[in-house]
Amino acid sequence: MKRPVAYIAGTGRAVPSNVMSNFDFAAIGIETTDEWIVERTGIKQRHIAKTESVTDLASTASRAAMQKAGVQPGELDIIVVATASPDRLLPSAAVDLQAAIGASRAAAFDVGAACSGFIYGSTVAEAMISIGNADTALIVGVERLSSITDWTDRSTCVLFGDGAGAAVLKRAKQHRGILSTFVRSDGSLGDLLCRPGGGGARPFSSEVLNDRSQFIKMNGREVFKNAVRSMSDAATRALDAAKLTSADIDLMIPHQANIRIIEATAKHANIPMSKVYVNVDRFGNTSAASIPIALDEAIEQGQLGEGSTVLLVAFGAGFTWGSMIVRL
Ligand code: COA
Repeated sequence: MKRPVAYIAGTGRAVPSNVMSNFDFAAIGIETTDEWIVERTGIKQRHIAKTESVTDLASTASRAAMQKAGVQPGELDIIVVATASPDRLLPSAAVDLQAAIGASRAAAFDVGAACSGFIYGSTVAEAMISIGNADTALIVGVERLSSITDWTDRSTCVLFGDGAGAAVLKRAKQHRGILSTFVRSDGSLGDLLCRPGGGGARPFSSEVLNDRSQFIKMNGREVFKNAVRSMSDAATRALDAAKLTSADIDLMIPHQANIRIIEATAKHANIPMSKVYVNVDRFGNTSAASIPIALDEAIEQGQLGEGSTVLLVAFGAGFTWGSMIVRL
């Protein structure tokens, strides 16, 4: 097994205070039921931002992670933000976060990998630490998906939630840290989960607004099939790369999109559900934020501690997918 280059020194999370349950959809004219949503997805509620911006959520999660890591903002060399729903399109969400937390020395940039963003971002940060460009990195997965969700489309609006999760990565000194990472994409399937309007090809216009193409569009069935296949493959790849077996894993934290995808991935990876972290029932799908939120919760609850081995596995729009094994 390779000696780790970087370890997770602290994690943090933040979610908006406003909670929307499955029963609240009736009030906004969505024809659905709690039973339908729970049976198909496992989601019971999600946090939906009313006042909190992406920068607010990212800042709160980051400050918590830095406090646990014993790191001051001025010590950060890089800030990597994974988001598909930034407060504004230019400049990056990472520089807004940098300004908010006062991390004056850092190089700050976003990665665009949708729900796999935390794994992509951590992979990039680990590589920068490895080549000597950084000693201390802040990785944040943050979303305000409610602002890019079509609240008239019942097949998507019941799925998503808002939130942020953060991790501080530091240069590893001992045999703890990131043991393996795996990332892949297939852009030929990009249309299956996308926001067709509002970008360079179809800039904002009355036409874009009329057909609501600035919002997330998704072919749920195809996404489901690909998510199961890709996450199952990714879980195995990270284990192989770290020369570990599923028996070596204390906890698997899959991207929290849907309980059926999570169960299928766990089965394929040969990991019992008792060793799989699930919070999709409370937060819905928070895209790039889902894995770091779950990681922070699992550490706080004592399900993970120093020396634990955790398998992270994600899938998202792109399609992108990836996995990572970390010894905490
Ligand atoms: N409430 C009630 N009925 C709904 C509904 C809702 N919220 N959303 C869709 N339906 C209806 C559809 O209109 C359709 O009705 P019809 O047969 O009369 O046309 C029926 O339910 C079946 O729709 P379908 O899309 O085939 O359902 P499904 O079993 O595939 O479940 C998803 C839909 C979205 C839950 C499922 O495809 C899924 O979880 N996909 C993955 C999504 C995901 O995780 N994306 C993010 C990945 S990072």
